[in-house]
Amino acid sequence: MRVIVTGGAGFIGSHIVDTLLTRGHSPFVIDDFSSGSRQNLPVAVPVFELDIRDGARLSAVFDEIRPEGVCHQAAQMSVSRSMREPVFDADVNIMGLLNVFDQASRVGAKRIVFASSGGVLYGEVSTAATENSPKRPMSAYGISKWVGEQYLEFYARERGLQGVALRYSNVYGPRQNPHGEAGVVAIFSKLMFAGSVATINGDGRYIRDYVYGIDVANANVLALETDFKAHFSAINVGTGIGVDVNEIAAEIAANVKVELQRTGSSIQVPGCRHGEPRIGDLRSNLISPVLAGQLLGWKPAMPLKNGIRQTVEWFSQQQVQ
Ligand SMILES: NC(=O)c1ccc[n+]([C@@H]2O[C@H](COP(=O)([O-])OP(=O)(O)OC[C@H]3O[C@@H](n4cnc5c(N)ncnc54)[C@H](O)[C@@H]3O)[C@@H](O)[C@H]2O)c1
Repeated sequence: MRVIVTGGAGFIGSHIVDTLLTRGHSPFVIDDFSSGSRQNLPVAVPVFELDIRDGARLSAVFDEIRPEGVCHQAAQMSVSRSMREPVFDADVNIMGLLNVFDQASRVGAKRIVFASSGGVLYGEVSTAATENSPKRPMSAYGISKWVGEQYLEFYARERGLQGVALRYSNVYGPRQNPHGEAGVVAIFSKLMFAGSVATINGDGRYIRDYVYGIDVANANVLALETDFKAHFSAINVGTGIGVDVNEIAAEIAANVKVELQRTGSSIQVPGCRHGEPRIGDLRSNLISPVLAGQLLGWKPAMPLKNGIRQTVEWFSQQQVQ
């Protein structure tokens, strides 16, 4: 299948590109490199450097590629920026998204998969949210993801294509950008390798559902390959297992220490400090993967401890390069 991956040079998008190649598909990447990197991509993959808000250039690329599938990952993904600049958030996450869906339907693409977010849609939940749990987006980013899902349902219904919104939980793994505001595994790994003190917000008892990037990529490719009965489906992509930030920090620190010893480094990993709680941080957020098992035959394959080890090893290699 010829598949355009928007945001394909980013963390999750580039794993989707790898998985598409492994499964015999032909990926094409659209990315403006605002946070993505060419280093994440195999050199043979065609890359179109452009902003999804540029409708004219986007249209020309869709005419050239004429994809059968589109996997839409490109987004403004900072919650705090969305609070400060809701117009910018909507420009990328709603207007840019509409450009992508519109071009996909215009050139006859049959399938669109969209990166949504369980974390921001369901809000505070003490047990794993299902797809039918109430939606409580509190940030402009959450609103734009929710609106994006509804536009996908509209395009699927009105233009006769298949739309799938995948609601990710907290995704982590190799290639995640450690300079963002989210992604505690990446941020703490980077700090600890530098011997810097990592700050845990508040008491750290914030429960999250951590899912491995390559598992998320597999879910995307399965969603592109599966024939669904419904024109639109929204599916959680998480583990249903909640872990708090203190446990995650301890696990990262233990792995970083092993890596530093193995590489003969003299850097010491200092203990974490507890800072002020971050206003608005949810105490508990996790999502059920049951529907993903039923509709996609997907389940999270990577146990958290192994995933953290692999992520830390990847960051260790980045120090050497
Ligand atoms: N990482 C998570 O925990 C998580 C959780 C829920 C949902 N998501 C969603 O998954 C998707 C991928 O996130 P990621 O973690 O890989 O982030 P990322 O920043 O690594 O990837 C986003 C990619 O989109 C590109 N991009 C951004 N704005 C663009 C624009 N206007 N035009 C073209 N390209 C643009 C960036 O350069 C980058 O390569 C996003 O839609 C995000 O909202 C991520």
